[in-house]
This record gives sequence, structure tokens and C-alpha cells, in this order.
Amino acid sequence: RKVSIIGAGNVGATTAQKIVENGLADVVLLDIRDGVAQGKSLDILEAGPLMGFDTRIVGTGHYEEIADSSVVVVTAGFSRKPGMSRDDLLHKNGEIIRDVAHNIRKFAPDSIIIPVTNPMDLMAYVLWRVTGFPRERVIGMGGALDSSRFAYFLSEETRTSVSNIHSLVMGGHGDQMVPLLDFSTIAGVPVRKIIPSDRLEAIVTRTRNGGAEIVHLMKDSSAYFAPAAAIYSMIESILHDRHRIIPSSVLLEGEYGIRGAFVGVPVRLGNQGLEEIIQLPLSAEESSQLAHSAAVIAEGISALNR
Ligand code: NAI
Repeated sequence: RKVSIIGAGNVGATTAQKIVENGLADVVLLDIRDGVAQGKSLDILEAGPLMGFDTRIVGTGHYEEIADSSVVVVTAGFSRKPGMSRDDLLHKNGEIIRDVAHNIRKFAPDSIIIPVTNPMDLMAYVLWRVTGFPRERVIGMGGALDSSRFAYFLSEETRTSVSNIHSLVMGGHGDQMVPLLDFSTIAGVPVRKIIPSDRLEAIVTRTRNGGAEIVHLMKDSSAYFAPAAAIYSMIESILHDRHRIIPSSVLLEGEYGIRGAFVGVPVRLGNQGLEEIIQLPLSAEESSQLAHSAAVIAEGISALNR
């Protein structure tokens, strides 16, 4: 089994390290910055004797190396810097992702792609369009991270183990995310029955701003440990064919009344990629929040084509 990661920055390299240390798959780490992917790969390998793994990782600048990958994770590109508008980011990363997509189509035409680069729902759309892959093989990472952040905050609030918490965040990965309170539970009990509404509201707001909270603390970088864990969980469900339900950004074709956009919804992931979109009975308010989120993404798709 082979996983390729395009972009050897914070998220890409941390994901590579998790995969290699856990022996999940061999890894190819690719970056355009000369030597960076090679250097980080060697650094990871040199931990093998200490951590006891024999998994392989190759750092490279050449796409030939990604041939025969089961999964290709796309983390190449910029994160938003102060003063950069979302539109600036959209166009800068859009160009990078188009190039990455051409190379994936050429060198790893049978792979499953996990788009991560922001704005993720839109970069997923670009990867899908340019590769021409079926929607089952383009599955964006967003909801896994947002749901994990939500679950962590719920566990902190209630002093309950994260293992007792199931949380679900749908919608666009960004300000438009839609945390689903009726489907978020602690030991099976909906959170609304356990946490007072003002506290719950504060937790939802903190989840929405989860990425920004970390950028604010770190100044010159954004989150990467939890993002890498979120990517890892998706790859693990795919490679081990575990059929886990993980909220992810996939192309909707009428599900939830949405068509033609990548939007975060709960999906079942196995070795064919997207196996099923789980359709939940949403409340009227949640449905309208999801529709709003999808409209913002659709607007982004139009901006991409301008
Ligand atoms: P980073 O700046 O540490 O790494 C980006 C890497 O991409 C750099 O090593 C750079 O050399 C490389 N790169 C740039 N152009 C390339 C190209 N054409 N081909 C190959 N490599 C190229 O950034 P970081 O923190 O790793 O984040 C990466 C992206 O992931 C950002 O867009 C960020 O916003 C996004 N992100 C998304 C998350 C999500 O939940 N979907 C969570 C965290 C980050």
C-alpha cells in the first residue's frame, strides 16, 4: 500500500510521520521546494530505529514517484496570511491545485484523492473537475477536523472522556460549518440535554473559529497536528476498508437538496473511497443553514471560473 502526499509543509509532513510511524502504508512526500521533502523524509526515517518501524518514505520533487498510489493527499499551497483575502487565496491556490490535479491524473489515475488545501471545498471541486475522477474518489478533509474540535470542546466542558462523545459538523469547511446538535451526543444523550444553551452556543462559536484560534496563538502558521490526525483517520478507513462514517466534503448530486458543489456531509469510507452519503433527517433550521453554506460554496465556484 502506498500513500502520496503532495506538499511537504506542516500538514503534509505531520501526516506522513503519522502514517509511517503507525506502519499504515509506505509514503511518497512531494514538494516543489528543492530538498524539503527529501530532508523531512530522511528525518522521519532516522526515527525508525527508535520507534521501531520499517515503513518506507521517499521524499521527492518528481511526480513519477506517485505512480500506483492508493491514496493521494493534497496539502500543497498557501494558508491565509494576514492581509490576504479569501479571493486572493482562492486564485493563488487554484493555480497550484490545477497543476497538482493534472499530475495526479497523469501519474496516479486510479488513486483516491483527499483534498486538504484551503479553501478546501473549492479546491476539491477543482481536483474533481481537472482529474475527471468519479466523485467516489475525491473526498475532502474538513468535517473530520471540525467534528473532532467540537468533540474535544464538549469533552472539556463536561469533563467526559472523548471516547464517550460523538459529534457531527456538516456544511462548508470554514465560517459556514453547521454543527448538528441533535446528532452530537455524550454517552448517547444529545448534548442539548446536558449542556445549558448559552454554554453550548459558546462551544459552537469556538468550534467555528477553531482554525482562527490556533492561527491567533501561533501567528505565522496554522494548525497541523489535529488536521494530520483527521487525514489519517480517513486514510485508515479507506486502506483498511473499515467503513467508518466520517463527515467529509463530497460532490453532492441532489443529496440534501444540493447539486454540483462539494459540501461536508457524513459519508461512509472504504477501499473504494466514498461508499455512501448518509442522509440525516435535519431540522428546518439546520437544513436552511446547510443550504446557506452550499450557496456560499456555489458562489466560490463561480468566482473560480471568473
Ligand atoms: P505549509 O506552508 O506548511 O505547506 C505548504 C507546502 O506546499 C509547502 O511546503 C510548499 O513548498 C508546498 N507547495 C507549494 N506549491 C506547491 C506545488 N505547486 N507543488 C507541490 N508543493 C507545493 O502549509 P500547511 O500548514 O501545511 O497547510 C497546507 C494547506 O492546507 C493550506 O492551504 C492550509 O490552509 C490547508 N489546511 C487545511 C485544513 C483543512 O481542514 N482542510 C487544515 C489545515 C490546513
